[in-house]
Amino acid sequence: MSIEYRAERRTLTLLTKNSVYQMQIGPLGYLLHLYYGARCEGDLDWLHLPRDCGFSPNPHELTEGRGFSLDTMPQEYSGSNGADFRLSSLELETGSGVVGADLHVLRWETRPGKYALDGLPASFANGDEAETLSVVLGDEASGVEVELLYGVFYERDVITRAVRIRNAGGGVVTLRKVASACLDLPFGRWDFIRFHGRHAMERQIERAPVRSGLQSTASLRGSSGHHNDPFTILCAHDATEDHGACYGLMPVYSGNHRTDVELDQGGSVRAVAGINPDRFSWRLLPGECFDVPELILAFSDEGLTGLSHRLHRFLRGNLSRAEARRRAEDRVLLNSWEACYFGVSETRMLALGRGAKELGAGLLVLDDGWFGERCDDRRALGDWTPNRGKFPEGLSGLAEKLSEDGMAFGLWIEPEMVSEDSALFRAHPDWALRVPGRSPALGRDQLVLDLGREEVTEHLYETFAALLRENDISYVKWDMNRSLSDVYSAALPPERQGEAAHRYVLGLYRLLGRLTGDFPAVLFEGCSGGGGRFDAGILAFCPQIWVSDNTDPIARLRIQQGASYGYPIAAFGAHVSASPNHQTGRATPLGTRCLVAMAGSFGFELDPAALSAEERAQLREQTAFFLRCRETIQQGDFYRLSAEDERFCAWQFVAEDGHETLLTLVLKDPEANPAPLHVCLKGLDPQARYRLECRDFFGCRNPIPEAPRTVFGGAALMHAGLTLPQLLGDYPCARLLFVKETCK
Ligand code: DGJ
Repeated sequence: MSIEYRAERRTLTLLTKNSVYQMQIGPLGYLLHLYYGARCEGDLDWLHLPRDCGFSPNPHELTEGRGFSLDTMPQEYSGSNGADFRLSSLELETGSGVVGADLHVLRWETRPGKYALDGLPASFANGDEAETLSVVLGDEASGVEVELLYGVFYERDVITRAVRIRNAGGGVVTLRKVASACLDLPFGRWDFIRFHGRHAMERQIERAPVRSGLQSTASLRGSSGHHNDPFTILCAHDATEDHGACYGLMPVYSGNHRTDVELDQGGSVRAVAGINPDRFSWRLLPGECFDVPELILAFSDEGLTGLSHRLHRFLRGNLSRAEARRRAEDRVLLNSWEACYFGVSETRMLALGRGAKELGAGLLVLDDGWFGERCDDRRALGDWTPNRGKFPEGLSGLAEKLSEDGMAFGLWIEPEMVSEDSALFRAHPDWALRVPGRSPALGRDQLVLDLGREEVTEHLYETFAALLRENDISYVKWDMNRSLSDVYSAALPPERQGEAAHRYVLGLYRLLGRLTGDFPAVLFEGCSGGGGRFDAGILAFCPQIWVSDNTDPIARLRIQQGASYGYPIAAFGAHVSASPNHQTGRATPLGTRCLVAMAGSFGFELDPAALSAEERAQLREQTAFFLRCRETIQQGDFYRLSAEDERFCAWQFVAEDGHETLLTLVLKDPEANPAPLHVCLKGLDPQARYRLECRDFFGCRNPIPEAPRTVFGGAALMHAGLTLPQLLGDYPCARLLFVKETCK
């Protein structure tokens, strides 16, 4: 049993292998949060002593002095417009103008298995690995019931949270703010880690102590965005990669999000995460329910690496439905984008296909430019029929010819968008989001379709289902190349316009759910100009997402390392591209480009014909090496061995069963007369011996001496570490594969 109720103290305890989460049905039925952290026994209500705090009001009904205030006690799901002046979790308004929420426990129950949500992606349990706790809170003034849902995954060390709001009263209620979860950390000093960035430079880590007052990370772009990843971490101020308490907050949501963190007068930290309340509202008629997106919570007292491992395993095993991925995984792909941009044609693609095959790839992806009058990025989105000038025999002709060459076929699409210069827009101008009386902003010269409308998603489903039915397509790259602006739906009445952005996301999930469900053999890769919608909501449908439009390996080191704190390596779309790089102009060795792409899906984004025979041979070897190590890289444990400001970036992958480990190192900043290059490996069996199976260096200008040793003790590699030869040159790199030999 991973959920316990103890009647004496009215505590509800959620247990995972290494963590405890405890709440208490406190005075007047308020649901108090007692503790979330490392395993310990018993009821922990003694942590929160009565406190009479100036200007922190007490409930009217309380008879025992002034020791209890909602403003000072940790809350499980904070109300609003009451006596708790800290961050609210729920804000609502009734027809008679009653604003706020005062939430008391009505009932609770446990259920076997994991709850599901209506219209929203959520994690799932395999077999009987999860239990659900449901605690229903009521707000008397509005008649609203708030069901707090907890999914407890004992072995995974993960607790998921979600909320179902039901209008059990007689009047209409407008929801103004709906959080997925509130997490109070009443004691300690905490740092807030967030991942900010921009297009082509996503997920830059920023760690700062939680300051008094408010700090947030948010998106109002209609998507999770390049700029602020919805995933955040709260960690002990002294936590490192290997030590200290860390909490991961991972929203399973792809739209406008916000996570607020507040340090209050009493030193308590509160985090509230959910749909961004700015410009959001939702009218709930009597009897209706509203499901708030899920938040995955993980706790580790083994530092940031321990947190990443828990999240990686959970997202891989309990969120992504990865059947298609498994089928596609032995196929490395080549994508046409950086090879020919809009200049695609059957002839070009067949040549690329032949070149790709020579590199060891098995899948050719036709990116943008294949449909309608699409000769540049100003037109034709919405007209999803192949351009016959470029593809005289359509996509099926191309797919057939590729298949004769032993190559599978993949296709780029951007379903959510429409160009003004398109047949679709001319037929349905009202399908695009725009505010009446105002010209809508153009992003990449395109408009956004209102996916909140059923007829729009129906049309898109029919269009893409037909493409998938009629052509032998193994892979789809689903792109989204602008942020939502001018959010107004022609299909909604004025009082419901605050729903448009969330309805868009629900429509997107409906469409993705149908297409991925009806075509389970197709691998869908998410993309939004790179990592503009890289989130757990998308991962539920697309087990891999194009991490960034920036394919420069040195820039990618920071982008992929940033993403690795929350997201598994298996989710990273990463390709080897040409040098000098098209986004940064930087020249890098081919081996370094391969090494960084290997920390992900490993594919190609270049024209093989532009390479020398020697380079093509090297790429063939790199593909074979990746396929040899794919399981270890994608399904194993990932370790960040170097800090952001180090002159090199070292990553390590340990196979799930520990039988081998791969160390990769890229020199970012070659120095004259440098200190030795030294790293300590992690996650090995201290008792075992490891044989160096391969030791390769790429892009070095200096000769590399033979390895002084080829067999090492696990403890020695972890504690004493490994010294690598000096690497000179522009961004040289090393890859070392150790295979576990014996146990002493
Ligand atoms: C943005 C993507 O991130 C690129 O990889 C490419 O697919 C282009 N869109 C095509 O327009």
